[in-house]
Amino acid sequence: MIPSRNITSYLILQSKQSNPTKIKSLLIFFTRILVNEELYANMDWDKLGFDVIPTDYMYIMKSNSDGTFSNGTLLPFGTIDINPHSTVLNYGQGLFEGMKAYKREDGGVQLFRPEENALRMRMGAERLLMPAPNVEQYIDAVKHVVHANKRWVPPHGKGTLYIRPLLFGSGPVMGLSPAPQCTFLIYTNPISNNYKGDTTSFNLLVDDKLPRAYPGGTGGVKNISNYSPVFQVVKEAKAKGFSDVLFLDAVEHKYIEEVSSCNAFIVKGKVISTAPTLGTILPGITRKSIIELASDLGYKAKERKVSVKELLDADEVFCTGTAVGISEVGSVTYKDKSVQFKTGADTVTKKLYGLITGIQTGLLEDTKGWVVKID
Ligand code: COI
Repeated sequence: MIPSRNITSYLILQSKQSNPTKIKSLLIFFTRILVNEELYANMDWDKLGFDVIPTDYMYIMKSNSDGTFSNGTLLPFGTIDINPHSTVLNYGQGLFEGMKAYKREDGGVQLFRPEENALRMRMGAERLLMPAPNVEQYIDAVKHVVHANKRWVPPHGKGTLYIRPLLFGSGPVMGLSPAPQCTFLIYTNPISNNYKGDTTSFNLLVDDKLPRAYPGGTGGVKNISNYSPVFQVVKEAKAKGFSDVLFLDAVEHKYIEEVSSCNAFIVKGKVISTAPTLGTILPGITRKSIIELASDLGYKAKERKVSVKELLDADEVFCTGTAVGISEVGSVTYKDKSVQFKTGADTVTKKLYGLITGIQTGLLEDTKGWVVKID
């Protein structure tokens, strides 16, 4: 970036030598440079995907011996030191969250229901016996880190700044016990609006052998170790041309649970159904918001067990999550039988997509108090 001091000296010099028209055009030219460089990082926003793009700052806050958190700070983004005895490395004591910062058309930046993520992290922390920042500390930290990385929030319509809060056992132990100290860390990464990288609808494979979560396990919280066990199954499905895997319940292998990274819904007539959050399903914030918006649209939104049979008989199927947003499902394959679903402009899925993204990006009025403006 050209330091503004140099630009000012240059303009003063020009003003002594040139005519006013030249000075005016120079002023416009330099203002454009300054404004562009301050508003946006230097990158091609049309080429965003879901790839690693380090931003300028991360936020770190550690727990005190009494379980409170204090002295959170912004640091330049970079690698962190980690004790080999830490519980996150040895016993997987860790949680993550996923959130997004949206750029409005007027250039302002906003978050969507951040207190829900803060509460979900606290719920997970209770399950894994970790202290957690309180809701106010959590939201404050998110605001700070987004503000510091503001130039990485993609222009309106081009994507979002994905926010990844982590909470993990960083203090050392040898035996199997919770960490004496935990670290709360937030980093950010710009992403496109399309998690999958293309605009086609999902084609899901129903896996009836390896459940994602077991009753009494940690499927209902955003435990870091919920996710790597799906790698193998998803890799095999992708090699066969599927976009992702839909997992079934661990007891009867009969009811739909989650896709690897998102919740699943079916639409049949005027009823929209999704699996209930009874411990094996992640209580998604997009999921919760869609249930409310579906009722507003005049649909009956039901949280109930949904069998594979009903799934195959649905009119529409869609997935919800922070990363995937609302993604329509074009087809589902179960035991070599493939079924197609309605997709495109004239679907409930598209209406719900329009509603939720409208609120998130500021195109629609937020009548529910879901949006938190950062600027
Ligand atoms: C999110 O939707 O934010 C998630 O946490 C999913 C992640 C596995 C990509």
